[in-house]
Amino acid sequence: MADTITLIDDRTGKTVTVAITDGAFSSSALRELDPDLRMYDPAFFSTASCSSGITYLDGDAGILRYRGYPIEQLAEKSTFLEVAYLLLNGELPTTDELSKWTFDVTHHTMIHENMRKRFVDGFHHNAHPMGMFISSLAALGTFYDDAKDIFNKPALDRQTLRLIAKVPTLAAMAYRFSKGLPFVYPDNSLSYGANFLNMMFKVGDDYSVDPVLARAMDLLFILHADHEQNCGTTAMRVVASSHADPYSAAAAAASALYGPLHGGANEAVVRMLEEIGSVENVSAFVQSVKDDKGRLMGFGHRVYKNYDPRATIIKEAAHDVFAVTGKNPLLDVALKLEEVALGDEYFVSRKLYPNVDFYSGLIYQALGFPVEMFTVLFAIPRTAGWLTHFAELLDDKEQKISRPRQRYTGADERDYTPIAKR
Ligand code: CMC
Repeated sequence: MADTITLIDDRTGKTVTVAITDGAFSSSALRELDPDLRMYDPAFFSTASCSSGITYLDGDAGILRYRGYPIEQLAEKSTFLEVAYLLLNGELPTTDELSKWTFDVTHHTMIHENMRKRFVDGFHHNAHPMGMFISSLAALGTFYDDAKDIFNKPALDRQTLRLIAKVPTLAAMAYRFSKGLPFVYPDNSLSYGANFLNMMFKVGDDYSVDPVLARAMDLLFILHADHEQNCGTTAMRVVASSHADPYSAAAAAASALYGPLHGGANEAVVRMLEEIGSVENVSAFVQSVKDDKGRLMGFGHRVYKNYDPRATIIKEAAHDVFAVTGKNPLLDVALKLEEVALGDEYFVSRKLYPNVDFYSGLIYQALGFPVEMFTVLFAIPRTAGWLTHFAELLDDKEQKISRPRQRYTGADERDYTPIAKR
């Protein structure tokens, strides 16, 4: 069978045959057929916007791999910083490379004091931590005069290091501010995950991070590190395509992540489970979803038409966390909800399965995070993925500034009417 596709313009009879490579054909064929013809593709269902060697996802089979490594193996054997290195560099680090990378990240966790005193302290007392986090990302870039030097590799590497090192500090700062608690400085003796938990929850000298909980945090960071061309990553790439600095681009990506259909879903899941309240109310709730009175949050995915492999890992990890923290009472509601939905024709026929957000919120809650912090917890590790895509895009000679076209459906030309005559 030929690996080509032939486009025929029935208006003119003109045909263009083009190669199918890696499951895609070039839109240049369409331009060759008719330069004024557009493919209408809202929400990019059939559009591959880039070539990428970072993350592989097979939604029908429920497969997720970073740089070829199955997510299950990375979740079991790796650490978040090793995974971040893998994403950024394409290969797993050697012992020396990992220890240098870990040292460098650990020693860039501080933020400029003015960032906290002048910027963060200016927020309203009940500001949402995700709003604070997004704006802090953009503000952070103003502290570095090499932030915009994006085609200078050492300079871009410095921004990457700074961002990955500082996002947990920004996140913890947003939380502590929103609670009126004093800021806790980074502790260089702790791992990435443990340091974050320490900055979040330390009150007094007798606090120490439980290693099981630090590992759970790290695991959640691994699972959220990248997910190819989702809404947030696409925002990162679109902004990067105008050659903006990575701080501004990351702020845009985090803004995209904030929405309840994307990274905000974990917050929405816990609110939904709280609203359902108990297992007896599950069937009625599922019926209300089927009656179009709302969505079953944490279910469904644009790409996964099978169990999201991250949800499987998180569901198992929840038991380790609950062994330390005590079971989250909402777990029973979530398990029942999953059971009812997966046995219901509405969800089966639409291939709606639990996604990463269905169980992650229960662990976050057990770890002590308020729901407002959930999307921030998603954004911390995803920063590594965003920055990997940023660098890949800048390196891609086929990329230009993102500029989709439109189908114009507005008014034809008409004359301006003076206000007195309207
Ligand atoms: N509950 C009820 N029905 C749903 C759901 C849901 N969670 N998700 C999809 N459907 C239905 C939808 O109504 C539609 O039915 P019909 O064909 O009768 O109109 C069908 O399934 C296809 O849905 P869609 O909206 O066309 O699918 P999409 O690919 O545009 O949306 C999604 C994907 C993730 C936005 C959607 O499944 C959803 O809103 N899920 C709930 C929010 C959520 O959990 N988001 C987290 C996604 S995973 C983490 C991340 O990437 O951020």
